[in-house]
Amino acid sequence: MQLRLLQESDLDAVMAIQAQCYPEAWLESRAVFARKLTVSPESNWVAEDREGVVGYLFTHPWRGARLPELDTALQALPHDADQHFLHDLAVHPRGRGRGVAARLVLHALAWGVARGLREARLIAVLGADRFWHDFGFTPLAVAHDQLAGYGEQARAMGRVLAPT
Ligand SMILES: CC(C)(COP(=O)(O)OP(=O)(O)OC[C@H]1O[C@@H](n2cnc3c(N)ncnc32)[C@H](O)[C@@H]1OP(=O)(O)O)[C@@H](O)C(=O)NCCC(=O)NCCS
Repeated sequence: MQLRLLQESDLDAVMAIQAQCYPEAWLESRAVFARKLTVSPESNWVAEDREGVVGYLFTHPWRGARLPELDTALQALPHDADQHFLHDLAVHPRGRGRGVAARLVLHALAWGVARGLREARLIAVLGADRFWHDFGFTPLAVAHDQLAGYGEQARAMGRVLAPT
């Protein structure tokens, strides 16, 4: 299994994995994914196995208390970003339980540290807060409306990023 930067030509595979992983109401459009690549091309990765793309992780630098919204085109990165927002991690069912997600997460956290970002944040859904806890994420207090639309199990989480 290999990691590499996510490119526009991967978006068909990304859309297919997204559809396997989330309820229909949460699906983001291809245009919204493409916009993330335009605005922050160096902070999104795919994992590939022999069959092709098996998982992906979209992230971008961010700032402030409001978390980015779901299925909303990213306009621009804050010039004074100090957070690393992990927006969407998904692994195709065929690849689960082999550490694909862990590889993507560790790679992203290292990128955030190298970029000088001081904190990583995310919204855990579908019970994945236990998964994120293993990477040092703890619950984060955010305005309740920030989690609307992410399902009952949604939890905002964060962790400090520091050079190791
Ligand atoms: C969550 C997800 C990305 C994990 O992918 P994966 O490649 O199977 O994960 P890994 O193989 O790296 O698993 C690492 C560990 O996390 C655990 N884990 C995986 N998914 C989990 C979940 N949803 N909840 C709790 N623990 C989970 C695994 O059991 C494993 O634990 P172990 O090492 O003690 O056995 C994958 O299940 C997925 O795509 N789910 C649907 C989309 C989703 O929920 N994304 C996260 C949004 S915040």
